[in-house]
Amino acid sequence: MIGSARFDAIRGRLLWFEADPVLAGEGEAVRYVEDGLLVLRDGRIESVGEAGALLKALPAGARIADYRPYLVMPGFIDPHLHMPQTQVIASYGAHLLEWLEKYTFVEEQRYADAGVAAAASRFLLDELLRSGTTSAAVYCSVHPASAEALFSQGEARGMRLVAGKVMMDRAAPAALLDTPQKGYDETKALIARWHERGRLSYAITPRFAVTSSEAQLEAAGALAAEYPGMHIQTHLSENQEEIETVARDFPWSEDYTAVYERYGLVRKKALFGHCIHLSPRERQALGEAGAAAIACPTSNLFLGSGLFDLVAMRRSEPPVRVGLATDIGGGTSYSMLQTAAAFYKVLALKDERLTPFEAFHMLTLGNAEALGLEGRIGTFRPRVEADLVVLDNRATPAMAQRMERVETLFEELFVLMMMGDDRSVAATCLMGAEAYRRP
Ligand code: GUN
Ligand code: ZN
Repeated sequence: MIGSARFDAIRGRLLWFEADPVLAGEGEAVRYVEDGLLVLRDGRIESVGEAGALLKALPAGARIADYRPYLVMPGFIDPHLHMPQTQVIASYGAHLLEWLEKYTFVEEQRYADAGVAAAASRFLLDELLRSGTTSAAVYCSVHPASAEALFSQGEARGMRLVAGKVMMDRAAPAALLDTPQKGYDETKALIARWHERGRLSYAITPRFAVTSSEAQLEAAGALAAEYPGMHIQTHLSENQEEIETVARDFPWSEDYTAVYERYGLVRKKALFGHCIHLSPRERQALGEAGAAAIACPTSNLFLGSGLFDLVAMRRSEPPVRVGLATDIGGGTSYSMLQTAAAFYKVLALKDERLTPFEAFHMLTLGNAEALGLEGRIGTFRPRVEADLVVLDNRATPAMAQRMERVETLFEELFVLMMMGDDRSVAATCLMGAEAYRRP
Protein backbone atom coordinates (compact mmCIF):
# COMPACT_ATOMS: atom_id res chain seq x y z
CA MET A 1 0.00 0.00 0.00
CA ILE A 2 3.02 2.28 0.33
CA GLY A 3 2.78 5.13 -2.15
CA SER A 4 -0.98 5.06 -2.77
CA ALA A 5 -2.27 8.41 -4.05
CA ARG A 6 -3.56 11.14 -1.78
CA PHE A 7 -7.25 11.92 -1.72
CA ASP A 8 -8.58 15.44 -2.24
CA ALA A 9 -11.48 14.78 0.12
CA ILE A 10 -12.78 12.14 2.51
CA ARG A 11 -16.45 11.56 3.17
CA GLY A 12 -17.88 9.70 6.15
CA ARG A 13 -19.39 10.04 9.61
CA LEU A 14 -16.77 12.36 11.03
CA LEU A 15 -15.93 12.41 14.74
CA TRP A 16 -13.16 14.49 16.31
CA PHE A 17 -12.34 16.53 19.40
CA GLU A 18 -11.61 20.21 19.84
CA ALA A 19 -10.84 19.90 23.57
CA ASP A 20 -10.89 17.54 26.53
CA PRO A 21 -14.55 16.67 27.27
CA VAL A 22 -13.78 16.55 31.01
CA LEU A 23 -12.46 20.12 31.05
CA ALA A 24 -14.52 21.79 28.34
CA GLY A 25 -17.74 19.74 28.53
CA GLU A 26 -18.95 17.43 25.76
CA GLY A 27 -20.77 20.27 23.95
CA GLU A 28 -17.55 22.21 23.44
CA ALA A 29 -15.24 19.24 23.01
CA VAL A 30 -16.98 16.71 20.75
CA ARG A 31 -17.55 17.33 17.03
CA TYR A 32 -19.69 14.93 15.02
CA VAL A 33 -20.95 15.36 11.44
CA GLU A 34 -23.22 12.56 10.23
CA ASP A 35 -22.48 13.19 6.53
CA GLY A 36 -19.18 15.01 6.76
CA LEU A 37 -16.38 15.92 4.39
CA LEU A 38 -12.72 16.52 5.06
CA VAL A 39 -11.21 18.62 2.30
CA LEU A 40 -7.47 17.99 1.98
CA ARG A 41 -4.53 19.76 0.42
CA ASP A 42 -1.08 18.19 0.22
CA GLY A 43 -2.06 15.61 2.84
CA ARG A 44 -3.28 18.19 5.34
CA ILE A 45 -6.76 19.22 6.35
CA GLU A 46 -7.97 22.33 4.58
CA SER A 47 -11.55 22.39 5.84
CA VAL A 48 -14.07 20.15 7.55
CA GLY A 49 -17.87 20.27 7.65
CA GLU A 50 -21.10 19.12 6.06
CA ALA A 51 -20.52 17.20 2.82
CA GLY A 52 -23.47 18.88 1.08
CA ALA A 53 -21.94 22.34 1.24
CA LEU A 54 -18.28 21.41 0.80
CA LEU A 55 -18.75 19.06 -2.16
CA LYS A 56 -20.04 21.94 -4.29
CA ALA A 57 -16.76 23.79 -3.91
CA LEU A 58 -14.56 20.85 -4.96
CA PRO A 59 -13.06 21.01 -8.46
CA ALA A 60 -14.27 18.57 -11.11
CA GLY A 61 -12.30 15.33 -11.02
CA ALA A 62 -11.42 15.61 -7.33
CA ARG A 63 -10.45 12.25 -5.81
CA ILE A 64 -12.98 11.55 -3.06
CA ALA A 65 -12.84 8.58 -0.70
CA ASP A 66 -16.36 7.73 0.41
CA TYR A 67 -16.22 5.78 3.68
CA ARG A 68 -19.90 6.04 4.55
CA PRO A 69 -21.43 4.49 6.68
CA TYR A 70 -18.25 4.08 8.65
CA LEU A 71 -17.00 6.45 11.33
CA VAL A 72 -13.91 8.48 10.39
CA MET A 73 -11.72 9.71 13.24
CA PRO A 74 -8.21 11.13 13.54
CA GLY A 75 -5.73 8.22 13.53
CA PHE A 76 -4.96 6.71 16.91
CA ILE A 77 -1.75 7.69 18.68
CA ASP A 78 0.19 5.19 20.82
CA PRO A 79 2.59 7.09 23.10
CA HIS A 80 4.53 4.12 24.57
CA LEU A 81 5.59 0.80 23.03
CA HIS A 82 8.69 -1.29 22.42
CA MET A 83 9.67 -2.30 18.88
CA PRO A 84 11.88 -5.26 19.98
CA GLN A 85 9.06 -6.84 21.98
CA THR A 86 6.69 -8.09 19.26
CA GLN A 87 7.81 -11.62 20.18
CA VAL A 88 7.77 -11.01 23.93
CA ILE A 89 4.00 -10.40 24.17
CA ALA A 90 2.27 -13.12 26.23
CA SER A 91 5.37 -14.39 28.04
CA TYR A 92 4.10 -16.34 31.03
CA GLY A 93 4.04 -15.78 34.72
CA ALA A 94 6.36 -13.02 35.93
CA HIS A 95 6.36 -9.60 37.52
CA LEU A 96 8.26 -6.72 35.92
CA LEU A 97 11.89 -7.31 36.92
CA GLU A 98 11.69 -11.09 36.45
CA TRP A 99 9.88 -10.59 33.12
CA LEU A 100 12.64 -8.24 31.93
CA GLU A 101 15.38 -10.69 32.95
CA LYS A 102 13.73 -13.91 31.85
CA TYR A 103 12.18 -12.83 28.55
CA THR A 104 12.77 -9.25 27.45
CA PHE A 105 16.53 -8.91 27.94
CA VAL A 106 17.02 -12.29 26.26
CA GLU A 107 14.93 -11.29 23.23
CA GLU A 108 16.37 -7.78 22.87
CA GLN A 109 19.86 -9.22 22.35
CA ARG A 110 18.68 -10.48 18.94
CA TYR A 111 18.30 -6.83 17.86
CA ALA A 112 22.04 -6.42 17.47
CA ASP A 113 21.25 -7.92 14.05
CA ALA A 114 20.00 -5.20 11.68
CA GLY A 115 17.99 -7.78 9.72
CA VAL A 116 16.07 -8.85 12.81
CA ALA A 117 15.37 -5.19 13.65
CA ALA A 118 14.21 -4.41 10.09
CA ALA A 119 11.84 -7.40 10.00
CA ALA A 120 10.35 -6.56 13.40
CA SER A 121 10.00 -2.86 12.51
CA ARG A 122 8.17 -3.80 9.31
CA PHE A 123 5.86 -6.10 11.22
CA LEU A 124 5.25 -3.59 14.01
CA LEU A 125 4.39 -0.64 11.79
CA ASP A 126 2.11 -2.72 9.56
CA GLU A 127 0.37 -4.07 12.63
CA LEU A 128 -0.09 -0.55 14.01
CA LEU A 129 -1.65 0.59 10.73
CA ARG A 130 -3.93 -2.48 10.74
CA SER A 131 -5.03 -1.36 14.20
CA GLY A 132 -5.73 2.23 13.15
CA THR A 133 -2.64 3.65 14.87
CA THR A 134 -0.94 6.28 12.74
CA SER A 135 1.58 7.77 15.21
CA ALA A 136 3.63 6.29 18.04
CA ALA A 137 6.40 6.90 20.55
CA VAL A 138 8.66 3.87 20.34
CA TYR A 139 11.53 2.39 22.33
CA CYS A 140 14.11 0.54 20.23
CA SER A 141 16.80 -1.74 21.70
CA VAL A 142 20.20 -0.51 22.92
CA HIS A 143 21.63 -1.10 19.43
CA PRO A 144 21.70 1.97 17.16
CA ALA A 145 20.88 -0.33 14.22
CA SER A 146 17.49 -1.03 15.80
CA ALA A 147 16.62 2.67 15.73
CA GLU A 148 17.97 2.97 12.17
CA ALA A 149 15.63 0.12 11.18
CA LEU A 150 12.56 1.60 12.82
CA PHE A 151 13.12 5.11 11.47
CA SER A 152 13.75 3.76 7.95
CA GLN A 153 10.53 1.75 8.00
CA GLY A 154 8.62 4.69 9.47
CA GLU A 155 9.93 6.95 6.72
CA ALA A 156 8.96 4.44 4.02
CA ARG A 157 5.38 4.43 5.31
CA GLY A 158 5.17 8.17 6.06
CA MET A 159 4.15 7.65 9.68
CA ARG A 160 4.72 10.25 12.36
CA LEU A 161 7.04 8.52 14.83
CA VAL A 162 8.98 9.57 17.89
CA ALA A 163 11.65 7.00 18.78
CA GLY A 164 15.02 6.37 20.31
CA LYS A 165 17.56 3.69 21.10
CA VAL A 166 17.47 2.84 24.79
CA MET A 167 20.40 3.92 26.94
CA MET A 168 21.22 1.25 29.55
CA ASP A 169 24.59 0.68 31.21
CA ARG A 170 23.93 -1.72 34.10
CA ALA A 171 21.70 -4.43 35.62
CA ALA A 172 21.22 -6.28 32.33
CA PRO A 173 23.24 -8.82 30.26
CA ALA A 174 26.56 -7.41 29.01
CA ALA A 175 25.41 -7.70 25.39
CA LEU A 176 22.67 -5.12 26.11
CA LEU A 177 24.83 -2.52 27.79
CA ASP A 178 26.27 0.70 26.43
CA THR A 179 28.31 3.08 28.59
CA PRO A 180 27.55 6.69 29.51
CA GLN A 181 29.87 7.91 26.72
CA LYS A 182 28.78 5.34 24.14
CA GLY A 183 25.09 5.92 24.84
CA TYR A 184 25.65 9.67 24.52
CA ASP A 185 27.64 9.38 21.26
CA GLU A 186 25.27 6.89 19.65
CA THR A 187 22.26 8.99 20.61
CA LYS A 188 23.86 12.12 19.12
CA ALA A 189 24.64 10.33 15.88
CA LEU A 190 21.04 9.10 15.60
CA ILE A 191 19.72 12.60 16.35
CA ALA A 192 21.88 14.01 13.55
CA ARG A 193 20.47 11.46 11.09
CA TRP A 194 16.82 11.24 12.09
CA HIS A 195 15.59 14.10 14.29
CA GLU A 196 12.97 16.20 12.49
CA ARG A 197 13.51 14.35 9.24
CA GLY A 198 10.07 14.46 7.59
CA ARG A 199 7.58 13.12 10.10
CA LEU A 200 10.22 11.50 12.33
CA SER A 201 11.69 12.85 15.53
CA TYR A 202 14.06 11.57 18.17
CA ALA A 203 13.38 10.80 21.83
CA ILE A 204 16.23 10.64 24.35
CA THR A 205 15.53 7.22 25.86
CA PRO A 206 17.22 6.21 29.14
CA ARG A 207 15.35 2.91 29.73
CA PHE A 208 14.75 3.51 33.47
CA ALA A 209 16.74 4.35 36.59
CA VAL A 210 17.29 0.65 37.37
CA THR A 211 19.41 0.14 34.23
CA SER A 212 21.18 3.52 34.12
CA SER A 213 24.03 4.58 36.40
CA GLU A 214 24.21 8.11 37.75
CA ALA A 215 26.83 8.84 35.09
CA GLN A 216 24.47 7.68 32.35
CA LEU A 217 21.52 9.70 33.66
CA GLU A 218 23.88 12.67 33.71
CA ALA A 219 24.72 12.00 30.05
CA ALA A 220 21.00 11.77 29.24
CA GLY A 221 20.52 15.07 31.09
CA ALA A 222 23.34 16.64 29.06
CA LEU A 223 21.56 15.58 25.85
CA ALA A 224 18.28 16.95 27.22
CA ALA A 225 19.98 20.29 27.89
CA GLU A 226 21.53 20.37 24.41
CA TYR A 227 18.15 19.65 22.79
CA PRO A 228 15.59 21.52 24.91
CA GLY A 229 12.61 20.80 22.62
CA MET A 230 13.30 17.09 22.23
CA HIS A 231 11.18 14.27 23.61
CA ILE A 232 12.48 12.20 26.51
CA GLN A 233 10.95 8.81 27.28
CA THR A 234 11.51 6.51 30.23
CA HIS A 235 9.69 4.35 32.79
CA LEU A 236 8.60 5.51 36.24
CA SER A 237 7.03 3.83 39.25
CA GLU A 238 5.56 0.76 37.57
CA ASN A 239 6.26 -1.90 40.19
CA GLN A 240 7.07 -2.04 43.94
CA GLU A 241 10.26 -4.07 43.51
CA GLU A 242 11.45 -1.58 40.89
CA ILE A 243 10.76 1.32 43.27
CA GLU A 244 12.70 -0.42 46.07
CA THR A 245 15.63 -1.01 43.71
CA VAL A 246 15.71 2.67 42.73
CA ALA A 247 15.58 3.67 46.42
CA ARG A 248 18.64 1.44 47.08
CA ASP A 249 20.54 2.64 44.00
CA PHE A 250 19.87 6.35 44.60
CA PRO A 251 19.85 6.61 48.42
CA TRP A 252 20.12 10.42 48.29
CA SER A 253 16.83 10.78 46.39
CA GLU A 254 13.60 11.52 48.26
CA ASP A 255 11.60 9.44 45.75
CA TYR A 256 11.78 7.87 42.26
CA THR A 257 10.69 10.98 40.34
CA ALA A 258 13.36 13.06 42.09
CA VAL A 259 16.04 10.87 40.47
CA TYR A 260 14.92 12.01 37.03
CA GLU A 261 14.44 15.60 38.27
CA ARG A 262 18.04 15.65 39.51
CA TYR A 263 19.27 15.08 35.93
CA GLY A 264 16.92 17.54 34.22
CA LEU A 265 14.74 14.83 32.69
CA VAL A 266 11.38 16.02 34.03
CA ARG A 267 10.04 18.67 31.69
CA LYS A 268 7.66 19.29 28.78
CA LYS A 269 7.69 16.49 26.20
CA ALA A 270 9.08 14.06 28.78
CA LEU A 271 6.98 10.88 28.68
CA PHE A 272 6.89 8.71 31.80
CA GLY A 273 5.52 5.22 31.23
CA HIS A 274 3.24 3.72 33.92
CA CYS A 275 3.36 6.16 36.91
CA ILE A 276 1.25 3.81 39.02
CA HIS A 277 2.62 4.24 42.53
CA LEU A 278 3.41 7.97 42.60
CA SER A 279 3.13 10.08 45.75
CA PRO A 280 1.28 13.42 45.71
CA ARG A 281 4.67 15.17 45.57
CA GLU A 282 5.69 13.22 42.50
CA ARG A 283 2.42 13.99 40.72
CA GLN A 284 2.87 17.64 41.58
CA ALA A 285 6.41 17.57 40.13
CA LEU A 286 5.14 16.05 36.85
CA GLY A 287 2.25 18.52 36.69
CA GLU A 288 4.45 21.56 37.32
CA ALA A 289 6.96 20.43 34.71
CA GLY A 290 4.26 19.79 32.07
CA ALA A 291 5.55 16.21 31.70
CA ALA A 292 3.18 13.38 30.74
CA ALA A 293 2.22 10.25 32.66
CA ILE A 294 1.49 7.46 30.19
CA ALA A 295 -1.02 4.87 31.36
CA CYS A 296 -0.50 1.35 29.99
CA PRO A 297 -3.46 -0.64 31.29
CA THR A 298 -3.12 -3.97 29.43
CA SER A 299 0.53 -4.14 30.51
CA ASN A 300 -0.23 -3.17 34.11
CA LEU A 301 -2.89 -5.87 34.39
CA PHE A 302 -0.76 -8.48 32.60
CA LEU A 303 2.35 -7.92 34.75
CA GLY A 304 0.28 -7.38 37.91
CA SER A 305 1.86 -3.95 38.32
CA GLY A 306 -1.15 -2.06 39.68
CA LEU A 307 -3.94 0.31 38.70
CA PHE A 308 -3.28 3.76 37.19
CA ASP A 309 -4.94 6.53 39.22
CA LEU A 310 -6.48 8.83 36.60
CA VAL A 311 -8.53 10.78 39.12
CA ALA A 312 -5.42 11.59 41.21
CA MET A 313 -3.64 12.83 38.06
CA ARG A 314 -6.58 15.09 37.21
CA ARG A 315 -6.93 16.40 40.78
CA SER A 316 -3.24 17.08 41.22
CA GLU A 317 -2.37 20.80 41.20
CA PRO A 318 -1.58 21.53 38.42
CA PRO A 319 -3.14 18.46 36.76
CA VAL A 320 -0.78 15.93 35.17
CA ARG A 321 -1.03 15.44 31.39
CA VAL A 322 -2.06 11.83 30.80
CA GLY A 323 -1.53 9.63 27.75
CA LEU A 324 -2.85 6.13 27.09
CA ALA A 325 -0.63 3.51 25.46
CA THR A 326 -0.28 -0.19 24.61
CA ASP A 327 3.23 -0.78 26.03
CA ILE A 328 3.79 -3.63 23.60
CA GLY A 329 5.16 -6.20 24.67
CA GLY A 330 4.32 -5.88 28.40
CA GLY A 331 0.97 -4.86 26.92
CA THR A 332 -1.07 -7.60 25.31
CA SER A 333 -2.83 -5.85 22.41
CA TYR A 334 -1.73 -3.59 19.55
CA SER A 335 -5.25 -2.18 19.42
CA MET A 336 -5.88 1.19 21.01
CA LEU A 337 -9.57 0.19 21.18
CA GLN A 338 -8.64 -2.79 23.37
CA THR A 339 -6.33 -0.51 25.35
CA ALA A 340 -9.22 1.88 26.02
CA ALA A 341 -11.39 -1.09 27.06
CA ALA A 342 -8.73 -2.19 29.56
CA PHE A 343 -8.47 1.37 30.92
CA TYR A 344 -12.24 1.44 31.40
CA LYS A 345 -12.01 -1.78 33.45
CA VAL A 346 -9.04 -0.52 35.49
CA LEU A 347 -11.05 2.58 36.43
CA ALA A 348 -14.17 0.49 37.11
CA LEU A 349 -12.18 -1.42 39.74
CA LYS A 350 -11.86 1.91 41.58
CA ASP A 351 -15.56 2.66 40.99
CA GLU A 352 -14.56 5.36 38.49
CA ARG A 353 -15.74 5.75 34.91
CA LEU A 354 -14.25 6.58 31.53
CA THR A 355 -16.88 7.78 29.05
CA PRO A 356 -16.38 6.80 25.41
CA PHE A 357 -15.94 10.49 24.59
CA GLU A 358 -13.12 10.71 27.16
CA ALA A 359 -11.61 7.50 25.78
CA PHE A 360 -11.65 8.51 22.10
CA HIS A 361 -10.37 11.96 23.05
CA MET A 362 -7.42 10.27 24.78
CA LEU A 363 -6.66 8.05 21.76
CA THR A 364 -6.52 11.10 19.46
CA LEU A 365 -6.18 14.71 20.66
CA GLY A 366 -5.33 13.74 24.25
CA ASN A 367 -2.37 11.61 23.19
CA ALA A 368 -1.31 14.30 20.68
CA GLU A 369 -1.22 16.78 23.58
CA ALA A 370 0.61 14.29 25.82
CA LEU A 371 3.27 14.12 23.07
CA GLY A 372 3.26 17.89 22.57
CA LEU A 373 2.22 17.30 18.94
CA GLU A 374 -1.15 19.06 19.04
CA GLY A 375 -1.51 21.25 15.96
CA ARG A 376 0.17 18.52 13.89
CA ILE A 377 -1.89 15.38 14.58
CA GLY A 378 -4.90 14.17 16.57
CA THR A 379 -7.78 16.32 15.33
CA PHE A 380 -9.51 17.62 12.20
CA ARG A 381 -8.53 21.28 12.36
CA PRO A 382 -7.20 23.11 9.27
CA ARG A 383 -3.48 22.48 8.57
CA VAL A 384 -3.38 19.35 10.76
CA GLU A 385 -1.88 16.29 9.03
CA ALA A 386 -4.66 14.12 7.59
CA ASP A 387 -4.00 10.83 9.41
CA LEU A 388 -7.23 8.99 10.04
CA VAL A 389 -8.87 5.72 10.98
CA VAL A 390 -12.09 4.37 9.43
CA LEU A 391 -14.07 2.35 11.96
CA ASP A 392 -16.72 -0.32 11.38
CA ASN A 393 -18.95 -0.71 14.43
CA ARG A 394 -20.45 -3.96 13.07
CA ALA A 395 -17.13 -5.69 12.38
CA THR A 396 -18.04 -8.95 14.12
CA PRO A 397 -21.32 -10.84 14.51
CA ALA A 398 -21.27 -10.01 18.24
CA MET A 399 -20.83 -6.29 17.53
CA ALA A 400 -23.56 -6.30 14.87
CA GLN A 401 -25.89 -8.07 17.31
CA ARG A 402 -25.17 -5.50 20.03
CA MET A 403 -25.48 -2.55 17.63
CA GLU A 404 -29.11 -3.45 16.89
CA ARG A 405 -30.01 -2.08 20.33
CA VAL A 406 -27.83 1.03 20.14
CA GLU A 407 -29.60 4.40 19.87
CA THR A 408 -27.03 7.09 20.60
CA LEU A 409 -23.53 8.04 19.46
CA PHE A 410 -22.37 7.59 23.08
CA GLU A 411 -23.61 3.98 23.09
CA GLU A 412 -22.15 3.26 19.66
CA LEU A 413 -18.73 4.54 20.70
CA PHE A 414 -18.86 2.55 23.90
CA VAL A 415 -19.59 -0.66 21.97
CA LEU A 416 -16.73 0.16 19.61
CA MET A 417 -14.24 0.68 22.42
CA MET A 418 -15.33 -2.32 24.50
CA MET A 419 -15.81 -4.85 21.67
CA GLY A 420 -13.66 -3.43 18.86
CA ASP A 421 -10.11 -4.33 17.84
CA ASP A 422 -8.15 -4.55 14.58
CA ARG A 423 -11.18 -6.21 12.92
CA SER A 424 -13.09 -2.92 13.32
CA VAL A 425 -10.54 -0.98 11.30
CA ALA A 426 -11.86 -0.76 7.73
CA ALA A 427 -9.03 1.52 6.55
CA THR A 428 -6.21 3.73 7.82
CA CYS A 429 -4.90 6.83 6.03
CA LEU A 430 -1.61 8.66 6.40
CA MET A 431 -1.42 12.24 5.11
CA GLY A 432 -4.63 11.69 3.18
CA ALA A 433 -3.53 8.47 1.43
CA GLU A 434 -4.77 4.99 2.24
CA ALA A 435 -2.00 3.07 4.02
CA TYR A 436 -4.18 0.10 4.98
CA ARG A 437 -7.48 -1.29 3.78
CA ARG A 438 -9.16 -4.27 5.40
CA PRO A 439 -9.25 -7.19 2.92
N1 GUN B 1 10.72 -0.90 32.57
C1 GUN B 1 11.94 -0.90 31.98
N2 GUN B 1 11.92 -1.51 30.79
C2 GUN B 1 10.65 -1.91 30.61
C3 GUN B 1 10.00 -2.60 29.54
O1 GUN B 1 10.58 -2.97 28.53
N3 GUN B 1 8.66 -2.83 29.71
C4 GUN B 1 7.99 -2.42 30.83
N4 GUN B 1 6.67 -2.68 30.92
N5 GUN B 1 8.57 -1.78 31.83
C5 GUN B 1 9.89 -1.52 31.72
ZN1 ZN C 1 7.60 0.29 28.37
